[in-house]
Amino acid sequence: MKKGKAAVIIGAQWGDEGKGKIVDVLSENFPVVARYAGGHNAGHTVIIHGKKFILQLVPCGVLRTGCISVIGNGVVLDPMAFLKEVGTLRDAGVQVDGNLFVSNRAHVILPYHRMIELASENAPGRVKIGTTSRGIGPAYEDKMGRRGLRVADMFDLQLLRKHIENACHEKNMIAHALFNTEPLDAAKIYDEYAAASAKIAPFVRDTAVLLNKSLAEGKSIIFEGAQGTMLDIDHGTYPFVTSSSATSGGAAIGTGVAPTSINTVIGVTKAYCTRVGEGPFPSEIMDATGERLRALGNEYGAVTGRPRRCGWLDLPLLRYSSMINGFSWWVVTKMDVLDELEEIPVCVGYKIDGKLTDELPAQGCGYNKIECVYHKMPGWRTSTQGITEVAKLPKAAREYLDFLEKETGARIGMVSTGPDRQQTMLTDGFAAEMEALTGHKTKIQAGA
Ligand code: IMP
Repeated sequence: MKKGKAAVIIGAQWGDEGKGKIVDVLSENFPVVARYAGGHNAGHTVIIHGKKFILQLVPCGVLRTGCISVIGNGVVLDPMAFLKEVGTLRDAGVQVDGNLFVSNRAHVILPYHRMIELASENAPGRVKIGTTSRGIGPAYEDKMGRRGLRVADMFDLQLLRKHIENACHEKNMIAHALFNTEPLDAAKIYDEYAAASAKIAPFVRDTAVLLNKSLAEGKSIIFEGAQGTMLDIDHGTYPFVTSSSATSGGAAIGTGVAPTSINTVIGVTKAYCTRVGEGPFPSEIMDATGERLRALGNEYGAVTGRPRRCGWLDLPLLRYSSMINGFSWWVVTKMDVLDELEEIPVCVGYKIDGKLTDELPAQGCGYNKIECVYHKMPGWRTSTQGITEVAKLPKAAREYLDFLEKETGARIGMVSTGPDRQQTMLTDGFAAEMEALTGHKTKIQAGA
């Protein structure tokens, strides 16, 4: 049997590029979708026939009948958040039994992770990251510190009790000493997590085996990135990043599928740029146009509701992102948000100390020195909403996409002009590659 193929879908900016919808559209022909990093800090919004789903932990593939969804070992799992999401999906009539699996090696988020994060984010003298307050960072700290609790450990109740007692003893002391925080009750946490362990047991598998078997059986996999390249712990705008490997390399580590099994990497970028939380953002718009873009694009965080900072498309950043991830294709989302604008500035280069540079600074203070060089593109001033063929886009919109392609080296594969599955178009080249990967034609038409 021919081995299945694998594609990774990555946010090329700071997350919120609209990966959820893209994974949802492509999962029509990929029988397996796997998450590999992050936790319930992600917020993937998918609208199907007008019905809105916000998925935080569960991969978007769950919304497709017959698709297997996997939460890989690289994810940090809050069992309560997982069970709540599963309950909401069940109530909405979405199947979650027998098609949704969690890695037995994923690390578990416990209440003291949230306690420590909240206290330290607000502590005087600390760099405020503006996290989602879900305990993500402290859970990864315990993983790397080799004192974490993995999903498989939740089923050994003696071990679970001992782990929680020891961890609470230590974390309560640290939180009290550093932040004067009230202690957590280990017995109560144990009771909650022991009860949750029975409920999550039917979902738990060795997902590395499951995924590799799926490939061997000829099934193709989409790896669904969470967050975005510039939030990657190594390659992002450190320390204003999340605590996991959000870039394409993370897909192998976070699932147990070898890098040699990955066939293509797809970068998702908005037609402009946004970020939530603190940290550098070279092409940020500091005047009223930024607010206008926020209103037009409804740029508020899916998880925390925070207003997103808005900026122009940043090509040096996308070139960097493409280098780190190895993008072959771009998916451009929210094209329609730019419909009204008379002209659209695009950042085409960075100047540091007056000199053009291709390198992104490794330090936050380096970003402060960046001067963006802008090229103004003409707007198209006509609605692109719901257009489903690239050839039918206004000329100026096509030129905008051509410019992105020319300046970055990766090809335009898909363009999204609205939140619904149907408001999407594929280029011929991309449609052909997807067919080669999956053996199926996509139902969404290609056009140019
Ligand atoms: P954490 O992941 O909660 O530790 O937050 C670290 C940074 O990543 C903060 O700036 C968050 O706003 C940002 N972040 C985390 N997850 C997402 C996401 O899914 N979309 C956009 N930003 C995110």
